[in-house]
Amino acid sequence: METEQYNVQENEKIEHSDVQLEINKIYNEDCIIGMEKLKEESVDCIIIDPPFNSETKMASPFRPNSKARMSEEEWFIYNNMSSRGYISWMNRVFKELNRVLKKGGHIYVFCNWRNMRNTMDILEANFFVQKDLLVWDKEHFGVGFFYRPQTEFILIAYKGMKPRPLNSKSQANIFRVKRLYRAYSIVQKPVELIERFVELSTDEGDLILDCFMCSGTTAIASRNKRRNFIGFEINKENFEESQKRLSQERLGDALLGANVK
Ligand SMILES: C[S@@+](CC[C@H](N)C(=O)[O-])C[C@H]1O[C@@H](n2cnc3c(N)ncnc32)[C@H](O)[C@@H]1O
Repeated sequence: METEQYNVQENEKIEHSDVQLEINKIYNEDCIIGMEKLKEESVDCIIIDPPFNSETKMASPFRPNSKARMSEEEWFIYNNMSSRGYISWMNRVFKELNRVLKKGGHIYVFCNWRNMRNTMDILEANFFVQKDLLVWDKEHFGVGFFYRPQTEFILIAYKGMKPRPLNSKSQANIFRVKRLYRAYSIVQKPVELIERFVELSTDEGDLILDCFMCSGTTAIASRNKRRNFIGFEINKENFEESQKRLSQERLGDALLGANVK
């Protein structure tokens, strides 16, 4: 039976010298510090939705005239770095991502038209091989005063000489999935969209990393599709939302009688 083949192990540990991390958990910590505890080539796939750094009207400690108060620690969470700061921080993140991904493993990186150029450079500088630009068509446009945005983009790349093959040979590079209307945050992605990436790029029991979990969409999609996950989220409120969603979905599973861990 399908459920019996599900080999996600709740308390399995990833060893890294003397440090161990449990999988199927989200950690409330900075992803660079968190990823350092992961062993080299220990994850099968990466799906991330980093801060886009495009909220240029918001305040930051790097905008001396701004009226808003923000601590040094918060500046990057709020999408408001200088371009150089963003690139140098992203480079540190992607260096770790490259180290922990298995050869051939896929990396999905959400981006918008503004930060796509930087994201491509950062992928390349960190030895990922770019494969395609995927389009998420949200089926309806969002807020705006010029062209109203109906799309988001996802760069897909891989590590090593050759990518793992996709699990389907008839997948277009455009994904039509309705945007969310009453979500926890405007950046929350539909579980259905992430599930499609999970199914295409991994097998049951594989380990998926999302180092910017926010509300935990990647964790939920992975678990729904019987994959393991591990993730990090620096913001306490977002982390708590991810824990709430994970436990609610668990309850939902029980109510439905599904034997899914
Ligand atoms: C665009 S959101 C991800 C949204 C997510 N895909 C979802 O569906 O809910 C990016 C998240 O990255 C988190 N973040 C920013 N810097 C981080 C860091 N250094 N380490 C871990 N998380 C970080 C932010 O707090 C935010 O929750």
